[in-house]
Amino acid sequence: IRRKTVRDIAQAKGATPIVCLTAYDAPMAKMMDPFCDLILVGDSVGMVVHGLDSTVGVSMEMMILHGQAVMRGSSQAMVVVDMPFGSYETNPDVAFLNAARIMKETGCQAIKIESGEYAAGAVAHMVERGIPVMAHVGLRPQAVNVDGGFRAKGRSDIERKRVMAEAKAADEAGCFAMVVEGVAEDLAEEITKAVSCPTIGIGASVSCDGQVLVTHDMIGMFDWTPKFVRRYGDVRGEIGRAVEAYAADVRGRRFPGEEETYTMSSNGKTKQSR
Ligand code: KIV
Ligand code: NA
Repeated sequence: IRRKTVRDIAQAKGATPIVCLTAYDAPMAKMMDPFCDLILVGDSVGMVVHGLDSTVGVSMEMMILHGQAVMRGSSQAMVVVDMPFGSYETNPDVAFLNAARIMKETGCQAIKIESGEYAAGAVAHMVERGIPVMAHVGLRPQAVNVDGGFRAKGRSDIERKRVMAEAKAADEAGCFAMVVEGVAEDLAEEITKAVSCPTIGIGASVSCDGQVLVTHDMIGMFDWTPKFVRRYGDVRGEIGRAVEAYAADVRGRRFPGEEETYTMSSNGKTKQSR
């Protein structure tokens, strides 16, 4: 199957809502692939999988390793890999070199950067040289240390103007889509109308052209989720129940049973192939 491309994503604006979720490994990517237009290998992997407090500590190597796994597991969705903090802000040349490395080593189709207004030059530089760029405006998690926490954006006039300026700058610089994170509905709507590319919202209302969530939040992997998340599953409960039952069976000597045990007459092959 041919993967979705930047053109499919661009054409969806104003027509069909774009479905995007994060993935960090091959089996999850494989389960999600049939249903998603875009799969984002988010630097949220640092918090979701590696237990970091923020995304600031995420490295190029982490993004490449997880990007490779997601590419192996998916076949039809367009795959976008986040550039980690420190890999693109210095100047457009550094951004291009690191983005090109991510694309070559993972085979992903595009990269994403948290694009303050200053980043427009890097966006244009990369797009002109063959790298599709997804922008990310509003709440920018890599700026957590400047903001003093993860807070929704656009509560003051100055902040609203700043977010709108970031969005317009990235759009004019040629990004193919942009994540709009943590803004009130009216601002999300204004941005979506003001830019030519599709907006993909997270905590940014139904007014955006598409939606993205961290998959682990959406499937109920954690005991706490932010206001903007809807839980579609209880994977945490499911895993807890499975592990509890296994532990009880091992301690009660009920596992392994006869069915799960090799005998001298068995040929040594496992019954089930994975
Ligand atoms: O890192 C991430 O998962 C993201 C999305 C939630 C947009 O940037
Ligand atoms: Na991210």
